[in-house]
Amino acid sequence: MDEKLEKNITLKDENDKLMIDHSYDGIKELDNRPPPWLMWLFYITVMWSALYFGYYHWFWQEEVAPQDSEYLAELKAADIKVADLKASNPEKYNFDETKIALLNTPADLDAGKALYAAKGCLACHGALGEGNAVGPNLTDEAWLNGSTANDVFKVIKHGNTAKGMMAYKDQMSNEEIVKLTSWILVSLKGSNPPNAKAPQGN
Ligand code: HEC
Repeated sequence: MDEKLEKNITLKDENDKLMIDHSYDGIKELDNRPPPWLMWLFYITVMWSALYFGYYHWFWQEEVAPQDSEYLAELKAADIKVADLKASNPEKYNFDETKIALLNTPADLDAGKALYAAKGCLACHGALGEGNAVGPNLTDEAWLNGSTANDVFKVIKHGNTAKGMMAYKDQMSNEEIVKLTSWILVSLKGSNPPNAKAPQGN
């Protein structure tokens, strides 16, 4: 018998043994064994899932509770980081906006005055703080948002946007806002500029 034919016959015999006994529209299926590497991969994943389940949900939960303790450890580490960050820059992170102390050295007041011009405050409050059609007079005794250092600091930093006063917290550091606040309350207030806008507020 010719070698090719012989091979085909053995193949057919083998296929007949593997043939599954059903047919869909004449299409039949061979019950081939999956390759061992694939089966091993499957067994290993099954074993892994059992270990994983045991570790995270069962055996060690009472003593270690891996996920919970990991989570708590991360929270703790984050707290330490935050504390370090605050300690590294107290001016920025540990600043108490309810305890603004006015500065009165000429250098600080001059710096405040320069900021008033540089940040464009004069556009709405006038070159001399006298007020104009947009913003109120900053030289008189009447204040819409409170007259203390804390009040003035707060309105500059956080603004009163609903009334047209924007927040400057992204444009100036706390230190700069304190200087500006100081200049307004120490030098500008009571300066009686010409064309002063009528007092508003209390
Ligand atoms: C776009 C216009 C505008 C600019 C620019 C502006 N302000 Fe004002 N500001 C206002 C208005 C309007 C008010 C009144 C808000 C209100 O009715 O409470 C105000 C209120 C204030 C108050 C409170 C006054 C009060 O009577 O309570 C202070 C202090 C102040 N501004 C300071 C500043 C400083 C400092 C700057 C610059 C860093 C500045 N403003 C820039 C419009 C402006």
